[in-house]
Amino acid sequence: MTGSTASRTDEGRYVLITGASSGIGAELAWLYAAQGRPLLLWGRDAARLEAVAARARACGVTVQTRVLDLADGAAAIAALRADDAAHPIGIAILAAGLGDMRRSDDVVEKAEDVLRLGLVNYATPSAMAAAAAECMVARGRGHIVMLASVAAFHALPFAAAYSGSKAGLKRFAEAQQMALAPLGIGVTLVSPGFVDTPMSRRVVGAKPFLQSAPSAARRIARAVARNQPHLVFPFVFSVLRLVDTLVPWPLKRRILAAIRADQTD
Ligand SMILES: NC(=O)c1ccc[n+]([C@@H]2O[C@H](COP(=O)([O-])OP(=O)(O)OC[C@H]3O[C@@H](n4cnc5c(N)ncnc54)[C@H](OP(=O)(O)O)[C@@H]3O)[C@@H](O)[C@H]2O)c1
Repeated sequence: MTGSTASRTDEGRYVLITGASSGIGAELAWLYAAQGRPLLLWGRDAARLEAVAARARACGVTVQTRVLDLADGAAAIAALRADDAAHPIGIAILAAGLGDMRRSDDVVEKAEDVLRLGLVNYATPSAMAAAAAECMVARGRGHIVMLASVAAFHALPFAAAYSGSKAGLKRFAEAQQMALAPLGIGVTLVSPGFVDTPMSRRVVGAKPFLQSAPSAARRIARAVARNQPHLVFPFVFSVLRLVDTLVPWPLKRRILAAIRADQTD
């Protein structure tokens, strides 16, 4: 972990953000910095992470950074515990994620990609949420945020690993929310539609109801402030989610199998 020295008044006010080197995570970092919150920013790309940290520090807040590949779940758990011991975490935002899907020239999804998405999108954030909960329960306060996707609501044949990993995270967050609420710890599951970030820019074709990253960050921070259990945006995806539960499987299979999707490298 690198960064400037924290003051005692920062204790318990730290916001941990994974995936802070890009997109929604970076916007959340700048939003919370503007509110005067000290930050623990995690990412993989050291140069981009440092650029985000520098802009946050310009708001006058303390910012620590950590470069870590979340495919190593055991390292992530240990790092979270170490960060919390040094700087008690008030809000843990687990935003990092991979947005891979099957390319149009692939017959099936690659086994290695499926494993990596399972680790980065589901296993490590769930384990980190559990580690954050241990620390927060001991203090009797805190808030955990998990970034899933509206892809979790639908079985996407061109993105089985992505929709499956996000569905797993969604179920974990819903269960953890109920388990932790009586202990005074908030959990917010976030299910966005398309947000304009490097991840969605790799997707080829139409991106209906595309949201800006700053707007997504503002919605997420508002949901945390209200202790909202589940944030879905934009609203139309709540309607599609309901439709998905009502349409019989034979028809749903035909509709979902007809969707064509591709992405660039
Ligand atoms: N954009 C959308 O349309 C959309 C829609 C629904 C849900 N989401 C979810 O929102 C979250 C943020 O995505 P975004 O749109 O902001 O994407 P992004 O701009 O591509 O950012 C993804 C972030 O995750 C980090 N990351 C990826 N793999 C990692 C790994 N193995 N170890 C550590 N960090 C890793 C990246 O770090 P580096 O850049 O340093 O490698 C980056 O900071 C993701 O969970 C995504 O699934 C996005």
